[in-house]
Amino acid sequence: MIETKLFEYNEDGVREVGEILRNGGIAGIPTETVYGLAANAFDGQAVAKIFRAKGRPQDNPLIVHIWDISQLDGVVGSVPDGALALAEKFWPGPLSIIMPKGEKIPDEVSCGLDTVAVRMPSHPAARDIIKAAGVPLAAPSANLSGSPSPTTAKHVIDDMWGRAEAILDGGSCDVGVESTVVSLVGEKPRLLRPGGISLEQLESVLGEVEVDSAVLSELQENAKAASPGMKYKHYSPKARVIIVKGSFENYRRFVSGKKNCAALCFDGEGKLLNIPFIEIGREHDSAAQAHLLFEALRTLDDMDIETAYARCPDTDGVGLAVINRLLRAAAFTVIDVDGAMIIGLTGATGSGKSTVAKRLCEKYGIAHIDCDAIAKEITAPNSPVLAQLASGFGEDIILDDGSLDRAALAARAFASKEATKRLNSIMHPIITSKALAKVNAFTQEGKTAVLLDAAAIFESKIDKLCAFTAVVSAPAEIRLDRIMFRDSITREKAIHRMGAQLSDEEYAKKADVVLYNYAPYDTDAEIVKIIDKYKEKIL
Ligand code: TXA
Ligand code: MG
Repeated sequence: MIETKLFEYNEDGVREVGEILRNGGIAGIPTETVYGLAANAFDGQAVAKIFRAKGRPQDNPLIVHIWDISQLDGVVGSVPDGALALAEKFWPGPLSIIMPKGEKIPDEVSCGLDTVAVRMPSHPAARDIIKAAGVPLAAPSANLSGSPSPTTAKHVIDDMWGRAEAILDGGSCDVGVESTVVSLVGEKPRLLRPGGISLEQLESVLGEVEVDSAVLSELQENAKAASPGMKYKHYSPKARVIIVKGSFENYRRFVSGKKNCAALCFDGEGKLLNIPFIEIGREHDSAAQAHLLFEALRTLDDMDIETAYARCPDTDGVGLAVINRLLRAAAFTVIDVDGAMIIGLTGATGSGKSTVAKRLCEKYGIAHIDCDAIAKEITAPNSPVLAQLASGFGEDIILDDGSLDRAALAARAFASKEATKRLNSIMHPIITSKALAKVNAFTQEGKTAVLLDAAAIFESKIDKLCAFTAVVSAPAEIRLDRIMFRDSITREKAIHRMGAQLSDEEYAKKADVVLYNYAPYDTDAEIVKIIDKYKEKIL
Protein backbone atom coordinates (compact mmCIF):
# COMPACT_ATOMS: atom_id res chain seq x y z
CA MET A 1 0.00 0.00 0.00
CA ILE A 2 1.22 3.47 -0.81
CA GLU A 3 -0.35 6.72 0.34
CA THR A 4 -2.78 8.06 -2.25
CA LYS A 5 -3.53 11.80 -2.31
CA LEU A 6 -6.80 13.01 -3.79
CA PHE A 7 -6.79 16.35 -5.62
CA GLU A 8 -9.43 18.66 -7.02
CA TYR A 9 -9.05 20.10 -10.47
CA ASN A 10 -7.59 23.53 -9.68
CA GLU A 11 -4.20 25.23 -9.95
CA ASP A 12 -2.82 23.64 -6.78
CA GLY A 13 -4.03 20.18 -7.75
CA VAL A 14 -2.51 20.40 -11.22
CA ARG A 15 0.82 21.70 -9.86
CA GLU A 16 1.12 18.96 -7.22
CA VAL A 17 0.15 16.14 -9.56
CA GLY A 18 2.59 17.50 -12.15
CA GLU A 19 5.32 17.40 -9.52
CA ILE A 20 4.48 13.87 -8.40
CA LEU A 21 4.69 12.72 -12.03
CA ARG A 22 7.96 14.56 -12.67
CA ASN A 23 9.41 12.82 -9.61
CA GLY A 24 8.63 9.33 -10.87
CA GLY A 25 5.21 8.81 -9.28
CA ILE A 26 2.03 7.54 -10.92
CA ALA A 27 -1.32 9.34 -10.87
CA GLY A 28 -4.92 8.78 -11.94
CA ILE A 29 -5.91 11.68 -14.20
CA PRO A 30 -9.07 12.56 -16.12
CA THR A 31 -9.20 12.64 -19.91
CA GLU A 32 -12.20 13.16 -22.20
CA THR A 33 -12.34 9.38 -22.90
CA VAL A 34 -11.67 7.58 -19.60
CA TYR A 35 -9.39 8.20 -16.61
CA GLY A 36 -5.74 7.33 -17.28
CA LEU A 37 -3.05 6.05 -14.90
CA ALA A 38 -0.14 8.28 -15.87
CA ALA A 39 3.65 8.26 -15.50
CA ASN A 40 6.54 10.11 -17.14
CA ALA A 41 6.77 8.40 -20.55
CA PHE A 42 10.57 8.81 -20.61
CA ASP A 43 11.09 7.13 -17.23
CA GLY A 44 11.06 3.34 -17.56
CA GLN A 45 10.99 2.76 -13.80
CA ALA A 46 8.00 5.03 -13.32
CA VAL A 47 6.20 3.31 -16.19
CA ALA A 48 6.92 -0.11 -14.67
CA LYS A 49 4.93 0.98 -11.60
CA ILE A 50 1.82 1.35 -13.79
CA PHE A 51 2.00 -2.31 -14.81
CA ARG A 52 2.31 -3.38 -11.18
CA ALA A 53 -0.53 -1.14 -10.00
CA LYS A 54 -2.93 -2.42 -12.67
CA GLY A 55 -1.75 -6.02 -12.76
CA ARG A 56 -1.32 -5.43 -16.47
CA PRO A 57 0.22 -8.11 -18.73
CA GLN A 58 3.81 -7.18 -19.60
CA ASP A 59 3.24 -7.34 -23.37
CA ASN A 60 0.49 -4.73 -23.57
CA PRO A 61 1.99 -1.34 -24.58
CA LEU A 62 0.85 2.07 -23.33
CA ILE A 63 -0.40 5.19 -25.09
CA VAL A 64 1.80 8.30 -24.80
CA HIS A 65 -0.10 11.53 -24.12
CA ILE A 66 1.16 14.92 -25.31
CA TRP A 67 -0.40 18.35 -25.02
CA ASP A 68 1.36 19.99 -27.97
CA ILE A 69 2.55 18.69 -31.33
CA SER A 70 6.13 19.82 -30.53
CA GLN A 71 6.27 17.04 -27.94
CA LEU A 72 6.31 14.41 -30.73
CA ASP A 73 10.07 15.04 -30.82
CA GLY A 74 11.82 11.93 -29.45
CA VAL A 75 8.46 10.21 -28.92
CA VAL A 76 8.13 9.15 -32.56
CA GLY A 77 10.95 8.25 -34.94
CA SER A 78 9.14 9.60 -37.97
CA VAL A 79 5.72 10.95 -38.83
CA PRO A 80 3.96 8.68 -41.36
CA ASP A 81 1.74 9.93 -44.18
CA GLY A 82 -1.65 10.88 -42.94
CA ALA A 83 -0.61 11.43 -39.32
CA LEU A 84 -0.46 15.20 -39.55
CA ALA A 85 -3.75 15.38 -41.43
CA LEU A 86 -5.37 13.25 -38.70
CA ALA A 87 -3.79 15.37 -35.96
CA GLU A 88 -4.94 18.54 -37.66
CA LYS A 89 -8.52 17.32 -37.77
CA PHE A 90 -8.95 15.28 -34.59
CA TRP A 91 -6.34 16.48 -32.07
CA PRO A 92 -6.80 17.33 -29.36
CA GLY A 93 -9.34 14.52 -29.07
CA PRO A 94 -10.05 10.80 -28.61
CA LEU A 95 -7.66 9.43 -31.24
CA SER A 96 -4.43 7.47 -30.72
CA ILE A 97 -2.12 7.12 -33.70
CA ILE A 98 0.44 4.31 -33.94
CA MET A 99 3.72 5.55 -35.38
CA PRO A 100 7.36 4.41 -35.45
CA LYS A 101 8.84 4.70 -31.96
CA GLY A 102 11.25 7.54 -31.08
CA GLU A 103 14.58 7.15 -29.27
CA LYS A 104 13.38 8.58 -25.96
CA ILE A 105 10.65 5.97 -25.45
CA PRO A 106 11.80 3.17 -23.14
CA ASP A 107 10.87 -0.48 -23.73
CA GLU A 108 8.57 -0.36 -20.70
CA VAL A 109 6.18 1.83 -22.72
CA SER A 110 6.29 0.02 -26.05
CA CYS A 111 6.76 -3.48 -24.60
CA GLY A 112 9.47 -4.25 -27.12
CA LEU A 113 7.52 -3.12 -30.21
CA ASP A 114 9.20 -0.66 -32.58
CA THR A 115 6.04 1.43 -32.66
CA VAL A 116 4.31 3.73 -30.21
CA ALA A 117 0.73 4.96 -29.79
CA VAL A 118 0.40 8.72 -29.31
CA ARG A 119 -2.59 10.84 -28.43
CA MET A 120 -3.29 14.47 -27.60
CA PRO A 121 -6.21 14.57 -25.15
CA SER A 122 -8.67 17.45 -25.17
CA HIS A 123 -9.68 17.38 -21.50
CA PRO A 124 -8.35 20.64 -20.00
CA ALA A 125 -7.17 18.86 -16.82
CA ALA A 126 -5.20 16.28 -18.81
CA ARG A 127 -3.59 19.02 -20.88
CA ASP A 128 -2.77 21.14 -17.81
CA ILE A 129 -1.23 18.13 -16.02
CA ILE A 130 0.95 17.14 -19.01
CA LYS A 131 2.11 20.76 -19.22
CA ALA A 132 2.81 20.88 -15.49
CA ALA A 133 4.73 17.58 -15.59
CA GLY A 134 6.83 18.95 -18.44
CA VAL A 135 7.10 15.54 -20.13
CA PRO A 136 4.80 13.34 -22.24
CA LEU A 137 2.78 10.95 -20.08
CA ALA A 138 2.36 7.25 -20.72
CA ALA A 139 -1.11 6.25 -19.54
CA PRO A 140 -3.34 3.21 -19.88
CA SER A 141 -6.89 3.35 -18.53
CA ALA A 142 -6.81 3.64 -14.72
CA ASN A 143 -8.68 0.41 -13.94
CA LEU A 144 -7.40 -2.84 -12.53
CA SER A 145 -6.59 -5.05 -15.52
CA GLY A 146 -9.76 -6.79 -16.69
CA SER A 147 -12.31 -4.39 -15.16
CA PRO A 148 -14.25 -1.75 -17.05
CA SER A 149 -12.31 1.48 -17.68
CA PRO A 150 -13.03 4.21 -15.12
CA THR A 151 -15.17 7.14 -16.21
CA THR A 152 -15.38 8.92 -12.85
CA ALA A 153 -12.85 9.66 -10.10
CA LYS A 154 -14.84 7.33 -7.84
CA HIS A 155 -14.12 4.41 -10.19
CA VAL A 156 -10.40 5.26 -10.03
CA ILE A 157 -10.55 5.45 -6.24
CA ASP A 158 -12.29 2.04 -6.16
CA ASP A 159 -9.51 0.45 -8.23
CA MET A 160 -6.35 2.46 -7.49
CA TRP A 161 -6.56 3.65 -3.87
CA GLY A 162 -3.30 2.63 -2.20
CA ARG A 163 -1.72 1.83 -5.58
CA ALA A 164 -1.13 5.28 -7.10
CA GLU A 165 0.47 8.36 -5.49
CA ALA A 166 -2.31 10.67 -6.64
CA ILE A 167 -5.78 10.84 -8.15
CA LEU A 168 -7.13 14.08 -9.60
CA ASP A 169 -10.91 14.43 -9.80
CA GLY A 170 -11.97 16.09 -13.04
CA GLY A 171 -15.60 14.96 -13.04
CA SER A 172 -17.12 12.38 -15.33
CA CYS A 173 -15.57 11.69 -18.75
CA ASP A 174 -17.47 13.02 -21.76
CA VAL A 175 -16.83 10.26 -24.29
CA GLY A 176 -16.91 7.34 -21.86
CA VAL A 177 -15.06 4.77 -23.98
CA GLU A 178 -11.33 4.73 -24.73
CA SER A 179 -9.76 6.47 -27.71
CA THR A 180 -9.84 5.16 -31.25
CA VAL A 181 -6.53 3.44 -32.06
CA VAL A 182 -5.41 3.64 -35.68
CA SER A 183 -2.15 2.27 -36.99
CA LEU A 184 -0.26 4.13 -39.72
CA VAL A 185 2.81 1.87 -39.78
CA GLY A 186 1.48 -0.82 -42.12
CA GLU A 187 0.79 -0.70 -45.82
CA LYS A 188 -2.73 0.56 -45.26
CA PRO A 189 -4.21 2.50 -42.33
CA ARG A 190 -5.76 0.06 -39.92
CA LEU A 191 -8.35 0.52 -37.20
CA LEU A 192 -7.20 -1.50 -34.19
CA ARG A 193 -9.70 -0.24 -31.64
CA PRO A 194 -12.85 1.78 -32.32
CA GLY A 195 -13.49 4.75 -30.05
CA GLY A 196 -14.68 8.33 -29.90
CA ILE A 197 -13.48 9.12 -33.44
CA SER A 198 -15.51 6.94 -35.80
CA LEU A 199 -14.32 4.83 -38.72
CA GLU A 200 -16.29 7.13 -41.02
CA GLN A 201 -14.43 10.15 -39.61
CA LEU A 202 -11.05 8.45 -40.11
CA GLU A 203 -11.93 7.54 -43.68
CA SER A 204 -12.92 11.13 -44.41
CA VAL A 205 -9.24 11.99 -43.92
CA LEU A 206 -7.37 8.80 -44.87
CA GLY A 207 -9.54 7.19 -47.52
CA GLU A 208 -10.07 3.48 -46.98
CA VAL A 209 -9.18 2.19 -43.51
CA GLU A 210 -8.94 -1.55 -42.84
CA VAL A 211 -10.76 -2.79 -39.76
CA ASP A 212 -8.75 -5.27 -37.75
CA SER A 213 -10.58 -8.58 -37.33
CA ALA A 214 -10.24 -8.33 -33.54
CA VAL A 215 -12.65 -5.36 -33.53
CA LEU A 216 -15.77 -7.49 -33.91
CA SER A 217 -14.66 -11.07 -33.50
CA GLU A 218 -12.83 -13.16 -31.00
CA LEU A 219 -9.12 -13.59 -31.56
CA GLN A 220 -8.43 -17.19 -32.48
CA GLU A 221 -6.19 -19.26 -30.23
CA ASN A 222 -2.52 -18.55 -31.05
CA ALA A 223 -3.30 -15.75 -33.52
CA LYS A 224 -1.05 -12.71 -33.22
CA ALA A 225 -2.86 -9.60 -32.02
CA ALA A 226 -2.18 -6.40 -34.00
CA SER A 227 -3.09 -4.57 -30.84
CA PRO A 228 -1.96 -6.66 -27.87
CA GLY A 229 -4.75 -5.21 -25.71
CA MET A 230 -7.36 -6.95 -27.88
CA LYS A 231 -6.37 -10.41 -26.78
CA TYR A 232 -7.05 -9.92 -23.11
CA LYS A 233 -10.33 -10.42 -21.37
CA HIS A 234 -11.78 -7.00 -20.81
CA TYR A 235 -14.50 -5.13 -19.07
CA SER A 236 -15.85 -8.26 -17.47
CA PRO A 237 -18.35 -7.72 -14.68
CA LYS A 238 -18.99 -10.56 -12.23
CA ALA A 239 -22.30 -11.34 -13.92
CA ARG A 240 -22.39 -13.16 -17.23
CA VAL A 241 -23.28 -10.63 -19.94
CA ILE A 242 -25.29 -11.78 -22.97
CA ILE A 243 -25.99 -9.49 -25.91
CA VAL A 244 -29.54 -9.83 -27.16
CA LYS A 245 -30.23 -8.84 -30.76
CA GLY A 246 -33.74 -8.28 -32.01
CA SER A 247 -36.83 -6.18 -31.44
CA PHE A 248 -37.65 -4.77 -28.03
CA GLU A 249 -40.94 -6.69 -27.99
CA ASN A 250 -39.17 -10.04 -28.43
CA TYR A 251 -36.51 -9.00 -25.93
CA ARG A 252 -39.24 -8.16 -23.42
CA ARG A 253 -40.84 -11.57 -23.89
CA PHE A 254 -37.51 -13.31 -23.64
CA VAL A 255 -36.41 -11.75 -20.34
CA SER A 256 -39.89 -11.76 -18.84
CA GLY A 257 -39.94 -13.54 -15.50
CA LYS A 258 -36.28 -14.54 -15.58
CA LYS A 259 -34.66 -14.90 -12.19
CA ASN A 260 -31.30 -13.53 -10.93
CA CYS A 261 -30.81 -11.30 -13.92
CA ALA A 262 -30.88 -7.67 -14.96
CA ALA A 263 -31.50 -5.82 -18.21
CA LEU A 264 -29.07 -3.39 -19.82
CA CYS A 265 -31.62 -1.58 -21.92
CA PHE A 266 -32.30 1.70 -23.65
CA ASP A 267 -33.95 4.72 -22.07
CA GLY A 268 -37.65 4.29 -21.39
CA GLU A 269 -37.61 0.48 -21.75
CA GLY A 270 -36.90 -0.46 -18.14
CA LYS A 271 -40.37 0.32 -16.84
CA LEU A 272 -41.85 -2.11 -19.39
CA LEU A 273 -39.81 -5.03 -18.03
CA ASN A 274 -40.43 -7.13 -14.95
CA ILE A 275 -36.74 -7.59 -14.05
CA PRO A 276 -34.21 -5.12 -12.54
CA PHE A 277 -32.66 -2.86 -15.19
CA ILE A 278 -30.03 -0.27 -15.99
CA GLU A 279 -30.71 2.11 -18.86
CA ILE A 280 -27.74 2.96 -21.06
CA GLY A 281 -28.98 5.89 -23.15
CA ARG A 282 -31.58 6.28 -25.88
CA GLU A 283 -31.80 3.67 -28.64
CA HIS A 284 -29.71 4.78 -31.67
CA ASP A 285 -27.91 7.41 -29.52
CA SER A 286 -24.44 5.87 -29.63
CA ALA A 287 -22.74 8.84 -27.98
CA ALA A 288 -25.02 8.56 -24.94
CA GLN A 289 -24.48 4.78 -24.81
CA ALA A 290 -20.69 5.20 -24.96
CA HIS A 291 -20.91 7.71 -22.13
CA LEU A 292 -22.93 5.39 -19.86
CA LEU A 293 -21.66 1.88 -20.72
CA PHE A 294 -18.76 1.46 -18.29
CA GLU A 295 -20.67 3.00 -15.41
CA ALA A 296 -23.45 0.49 -16.16
CA LEU A 297 -20.99 -2.44 -16.22
CA ARG A 298 -19.62 -1.36 -12.85
CA THR A 299 -23.11 -0.96 -11.40
CA LEU A 300 -23.88 -4.56 -12.38
CA ASP A 301 -21.24 -5.63 -9.88
CA ASP A 302 -23.25 -4.06 -7.08
CA MET A 303 -26.37 -5.96 -8.07
CA ASP A 304 -26.85 -9.48 -6.83
CA ILE A 305 -27.43 -11.12 -10.20
CA GLU A 306 -26.01 -13.93 -12.34
CA THR A 307 -26.81 -12.65 -15.82
CA ALA A 308 -27.17 -9.32 -17.58
CA TYR A 309 -29.10 -9.25 -20.85
CA ALA A 310 -27.90 -6.31 -22.94
CA ARG A 311 -29.89 -4.80 -25.78
CA CYS A 312 -27.77 -4.69 -28.92
CA PRO A 313 -26.50 -1.21 -29.87
CA ASP A 314 -26.14 0.19 -33.40
CA THR A 315 -22.77 -0.55 -34.94
CA ASP A 316 -22.07 2.57 -36.97
CA GLY A 317 -20.36 5.77 -35.81
CA VAL A 318 -19.37 5.61 -32.14
CA GLY A 319 -21.68 2.57 -31.90
CA LEU A 320 -18.80 0.47 -33.24
CA ALA A 321 -16.89 1.30 -30.05
CA VAL A 322 -19.93 0.45 -27.90
CA ILE A 323 -20.49 -2.96 -29.50
CA ASN A 324 -16.73 -3.68 -29.42
CA ARG A 325 -16.63 -3.16 -25.62
CA LEU A 326 -19.92 -4.93 -25.04
CA LEU A 327 -18.81 -7.96 -27.06
CA ARG A 328 -15.77 -8.28 -24.81
CA ALA A 329 -17.85 -7.88 -21.67
CA ALA A 330 -20.07 -10.66 -23.06
CA ALA A 331 -17.16 -12.90 -24.10
CA PHE A 332 -18.75 -12.69 -27.58
CA THR A 333 -22.03 -14.36 -26.59
CA VAL A 334 -24.84 -12.99 -28.75
CA ILE A 335 -28.34 -14.36 -29.15
CA ASP A 336 -31.04 -13.22 -31.57
CA VAL A 337 -34.55 -13.15 -30.16
CA ASP A 338 -36.00 -12.39 -33.60
CA GLY A 339 -34.59 -15.76 -34.67
CA ALA A 340 -35.43 -19.21 -33.35
CA MET A 341 -36.22 -19.17 -29.63
CA ILE A 342 -34.16 -21.56 -27.57
CA ILE A 343 -35.87 -24.03 -25.25
CA GLY A 344 -33.51 -25.69 -22.80
CA LEU A 345 -34.05 -29.34 -21.89
CA THR A 346 -32.12 -31.25 -19.31
CA GLY A 347 -32.48 -34.08 -16.86
CA ALA A 348 -30.49 -36.56 -14.85
CA THR A 349 -29.31 -39.79 -16.45
CA GLY A 350 -32.21 -42.20 -16.75
CA SER A 351 -34.85 -39.47 -16.60
CA GLY A 352 -35.78 -40.09 -20.22
CA LYS A 353 -34.52 -36.77 -21.52
CA SER A 354 -33.72 -38.13 -24.98
CA THR A 355 -37.17 -39.69 -25.40
CA VAL A 356 -38.86 -36.47 -24.35
CA ALA A 357 -36.61 -34.40 -26.67
CA LYS A 358 -37.52 -36.61 -29.61
CA ARG A 359 -41.26 -36.54 -28.98
CA LEU A 360 -41.37 -32.82 -28.28
CA CYS A 361 -39.47 -31.92 -31.44
CA GLU A 362 -41.58 -34.21 -33.61
CA LYS A 363 -44.87 -32.98 -32.23
CA TYR A 364 -44.11 -29.26 -32.64
CA GLY A 365 -41.71 -29.25 -35.60
CA ILE A 366 -38.97 -27.94 -33.33
CA ALA A 367 -35.32 -28.37 -34.31
CA HIS A 368 -33.14 -30.45 -32.00
CA ILE A 369 -29.61 -29.56 -30.90
CA ASP A 370 -27.85 -32.22 -28.88
CA CYS A 371 -24.99 -30.75 -26.83
CA ASP A 372 -23.58 -34.17 -25.99
CA ALA A 373 -23.23 -34.79 -29.72
CA ILE A 374 -21.47 -31.42 -30.07
CA ALA A 375 -19.09 -32.41 -27.28
CA LYS A 376 -18.21 -35.57 -29.22
CA GLU A 377 -17.81 -33.67 -32.51
CA ILE A 378 -15.38 -31.12 -31.11
CA THR A 379 -13.20 -33.80 -29.51
CA ALA A 380 -12.81 -35.82 -32.71
CA PRO A 381 -9.28 -37.05 -33.57
CA ASN A 382 -6.86 -34.20 -34.46
CA SER A 383 -9.25 -31.49 -33.25
CA PRO A 384 -7.78 -28.44 -31.47
CA VAL A 385 -9.99 -29.17 -28.44
CA LEU A 386 -8.55 -32.67 -28.16
CA ALA A 387 -5.06 -31.17 -28.16
CA GLN A 388 -6.11 -28.76 -25.41
CA LEU A 389 -7.54 -31.60 -23.35
CA ALA A 390 -4.34 -33.58 -23.78
CA SER A 391 -2.23 -30.68 -22.60
CA GLY A 392 -4.57 -30.14 -19.65
CA PHE A 393 -5.05 -33.78 -18.59
CA GLY A 394 -2.14 -35.76 -20.05
CA GLU A 395 -1.26 -37.03 -23.53
CA ASP A 396 -2.33 -40.55 -22.60
CA ILE A 397 -6.02 -39.62 -22.72
CA ILE A 398 -5.60 -39.96 -26.49
CA LEU A 399 -5.83 -43.58 -27.66
CA ASP A 400 -3.55 -45.15 -30.28
CA ASP A 401 -6.09 -44.51 -33.04
CA GLY A 402 -6.10 -40.78 -32.18
CA SER A 403 -9.51 -40.84 -30.50
CA LEU A 404 -10.34 -39.61 -27.03
CA ASP A 405 -10.34 -42.12 -24.17
CA ARG A 406 -13.52 -40.77 -22.57
CA ALA A 407 -13.31 -42.99 -19.51
CA ALA A 408 -9.73 -41.89 -18.79
CA LEU A 409 -10.63 -38.23 -19.22
CA ALA A 410 -13.68 -38.61 -16.99
CA ALA A 411 -11.61 -40.31 -14.28
CA ARG A 412 -9.16 -37.40 -14.22
CA ALA A 413 -11.57 -34.56 -14.81
CA PHE A 414 -13.97 -35.63 -12.08
CA ALA A 415 -11.22 -36.42 -9.57
CA SER A 416 -11.36 -32.94 -8.05
CA LYS A 417 -13.39 -29.75 -8.24
CA GLU A 418 -10.39 -27.95 -9.72
CA ALA A 419 -10.02 -30.54 -12.49
CA THR A 420 -13.72 -30.45 -13.31
CA LYS A 421 -13.51 -26.67 -13.57
CA ARG A 422 -10.53 -27.00 -15.90
CA LEU A 423 -12.46 -29.41 -18.14
CA ASN A 424 -15.50 -27.16 -18.18
CA SER A 425 -13.48 -24.07 -19.04
CA ILE A 426 -12.14 -25.88 -22.12
CA MET A 427 -15.42 -27.47 -23.22
CA HIS A 428 -18.28 -25.15 -22.28
CA PRO A 429 -17.37 -22.00 -24.24
CA ILE A 430 -16.86 -24.00 -27.43
CA ILE A 431 -20.04 -26.03 -26.97
CA THR A 432 -21.92 -22.78 -26.37
CA SER A 433 -20.60 -21.10 -29.50
CA LYS A 434 -21.17 -24.22 -31.65
CA ALA A 435 -24.71 -24.53 -30.29
CA LEU A 436 -25.39 -20.86 -31.08
CA ALA A 437 -24.07 -21.36 -34.60
CA LYS A 438 -26.53 -24.24 -35.02
CA VAL A 439 -29.35 -22.08 -33.68
CA ASN A 440 -28.48 -19.46 -36.32
CA ALA A 441 -28.47 -22.08 -39.05
CA PHE A 442 -31.92 -23.28 -37.98
CA THR A 443 -33.13 -19.67 -37.95
CA GLN A 444 -31.94 -19.35 -41.55
CA GLU A 445 -34.03 -22.42 -42.35
CA GLY A 446 -37.06 -20.65 -40.94
CA LYS A 447 -37.40 -22.53 -37.65
CA THR A 448 -39.07 -20.51 -34.91
CA ALA A 449 -37.89 -22.67 -32.01
CA VAL A 450 -35.04 -25.03 -31.23
CA LEU A 451 -34.61 -27.46 -28.39
CA LEU A 452 -31.20 -27.34 -26.79
CA ASP A 453 -30.71 -30.68 -25.13
CA ALA A 454 -27.86 -30.65 -22.60
CA ALA A 455 -27.14 -32.72 -19.51
CA ALA A 456 -24.88 -30.01 -18.08
CA ILE A 457 -27.20 -27.14 -19.03
CA PHE A 458 -26.75 -25.35 -15.69
CA GLU A 459 -23.05 -26.09 -15.17
CA SER A 460 -22.29 -24.75 -18.67
CA LYS A 461 -24.61 -21.76 -18.13
CA ILE A 462 -26.25 -22.59 -21.45
CA ASP A 463 -29.55 -22.16 -19.57
CA LYS A 464 -28.93 -18.40 -19.73
CA LEU A 465 -29.38 -18.49 -23.51
CA CYS A 466 -32.74 -20.21 -23.25
CA ALA A 467 -36.20 -18.65 -23.23
CA PHE A 468 -36.96 -21.17 -20.50
CA THR A 469 -35.58 -24.46 -19.25
CA ALA A 470 -37.43 -27.68 -18.60
CA VAL A 471 -36.08 -30.58 -16.59
CA VAL A 472 -37.23 -34.12 -17.23
CA SER A 473 -37.77 -35.78 -13.89
CA ALA A 474 -38.20 -39.30 -12.56
CA PRO A 475 -37.62 -40.79 -9.10
CA ALA A 476 -34.18 -42.27 -8.41
CA GLU A 477 -35.47 -45.86 -8.16
CA ILE A 478 -37.06 -45.66 -11.60
CA ARG A 479 -33.99 -44.02 -13.14
CA LEU A 480 -31.80 -46.69 -11.62
CA ASP A 481 -33.86 -49.45 -13.27
CA ARG A 482 -33.83 -47.61 -16.58
CA ILE A 483 -30.06 -47.14 -16.59
CA MET A 484 -29.35 -50.76 -15.62
CA PHE A 485 -31.65 -51.94 -18.39
CA ARG A 486 -30.50 -49.42 -21.04
CA ASP A 487 -26.76 -49.88 -20.52
CA SER A 488 -26.80 -53.44 -19.16
CA ILE A 489 -24.79 -52.46 -16.09
CA THR A 490 -24.88 -53.48 -12.46
CA ARG A 491 -26.82 -51.65 -9.80
CA GLU A 492 -23.54 -50.43 -8.20
CA LYS A 493 -22.29 -48.97 -11.46
CA ALA A 494 -25.60 -47.27 -12.12
CA ILE A 495 -25.61 -45.75 -8.63
CA HIS A 496 -22.06 -44.51 -9.14
CA ARG A 497 -22.99 -42.84 -12.43
CA MET A 498 -26.00 -41.14 -10.90
CA GLY A 499 -23.85 -39.82 -8.07
CA ALA A 500 -21.66 -37.81 -10.45
CA GLN A 501 -24.59 -35.64 -11.53
CA LEU A 502 -26.88 -33.12 -9.92
CA SER A 503 -29.72 -34.80 -8.04
CA ASP A 504 -33.24 -34.73 -9.42
CA GLU A 505 -34.15 -32.15 -6.77
CA GLU A 506 -31.22 -29.90 -7.71
CA TYR A 507 -32.21 -30.00 -11.37
CA ALA A 508 -35.82 -29.21 -10.49
CA LYS A 509 -34.81 -26.25 -8.34
CA LYS A 510 -32.78 -24.65 -11.14
CA ALA A 511 -35.18 -25.26 -14.02
CA ASP A 512 -38.18 -23.10 -14.87
CA VAL A 513 -40.48 -26.07 -15.18
CA VAL A 514 -40.50 -29.80 -14.38
CA LEU A 515 -41.72 -32.43 -16.81
CA TYR A 516 -42.68 -35.64 -15.03
CA ASN A 517 -41.72 -38.64 -17.10
CA TYR A 518 -43.01 -41.66 -15.20
CA ALA A 519 -46.32 -43.34 -14.40
CA PRO A 520 -48.92 -42.19 -13.59
CA TYR A 521 -47.95 -39.06 -15.53
CA ASP A 522 -48.57 -39.03 -19.26
CA THR A 523 -45.46 -37.83 -21.08
CA ASP A 524 -47.29 -36.42 -24.08
CA ALA A 525 -49.75 -34.54 -21.90
CA GLU A 526 -46.82 -33.16 -19.87
CA ILE A 527 -45.18 -31.88 -23.05
CA VAL A 528 -48.37 -30.15 -24.18
CA LYS A 529 -48.79 -28.59 -20.76
CA ILE A 530 -45.32 -27.08 -20.82
CA ILE A 531 -45.44 -25.76 -24.36
CA ASP A 532 -48.81 -24.18 -23.56
CA LYS A 533 -47.41 -22.53 -20.48
CA TYR A 534 -44.56 -20.89 -22.43
CA LYS A 535 -46.42 -20.20 -25.67
CA GLU A 536 -45.90 -16.48 -25.26
CA LYS A 537 -42.13 -16.88 -25.22
CA ILE A 538 -41.69 -19.18 -28.19
CA LEU A 539 -44.40 -18.40 -30.70
O1 TXA B 1 -8.64 6.78 -24.29
C1 TXA B 1 -7.62 6.13 -24.10
O2 TXA B 1 -6.93 5.68 -25.04
C2 TXA B 1 -7.21 5.89 -22.65
C3 TXA B 1 -6.87 7.25 -22.04
C4 TXA B 1 -6.26 7.12 -20.69
O3 TXA B 1 -6.02 7.93 -22.91
N1 TXA B 1 -6.10 4.98 -22.60
C5 TXA B 1 -6.24 3.67 -22.85
O4 TXA B 1 -5.10 2.94 -22.76
O5 TXA B 1 -7.28 3.16 -23.16
P1 TXA B 1 -5.06 1.33 -22.65
O6 TXA B 1 -3.68 1.02 -22.28
O7 TXA B 1 -6.12 0.87 -21.75
O8 TXA B 1 -5.27 0.86 -24.10
C6 TXA B 1 -4.26 1.05 -25.06
C7 TXA B 1 -4.52 0.16 -26.24
C8 TXA B 1 -4.23 -1.28 -25.93
O9 TXA B 1 -5.20 -2.10 -26.58
C9 TXA B 1 -2.85 -1.48 -26.53
O10 TXA B 1 -2.62 -2.82 -26.87
C10 TXA B 1 -2.88 -0.56 -27.73
O11 TXA B 1 -3.64 0.55 -27.30
N2 TXA B 1 -1.54 -0.13 -28.13
C11 TXA B 1 -0.71 0.70 -27.47
N3 TXA B 1 0.45 0.82 -28.14
C12 TXA B 1 0.35 0.08 -29.25
C13 TXA B 1 1.23 -0.22 -30.34
N4 TXA B 1 2.43 0.29 -30.43
N5 TXA B 1 0.79 -1.05 -31.32
C14 TXA B 1 -0.46 -1.59 -31.24
N6 TXA B 1 -1.32 -1.35 -30.23
C15 TXA B 1 -0.92 -0.52 -29.25
MG1 MG C 1 -7.44 -0.31 -20.76
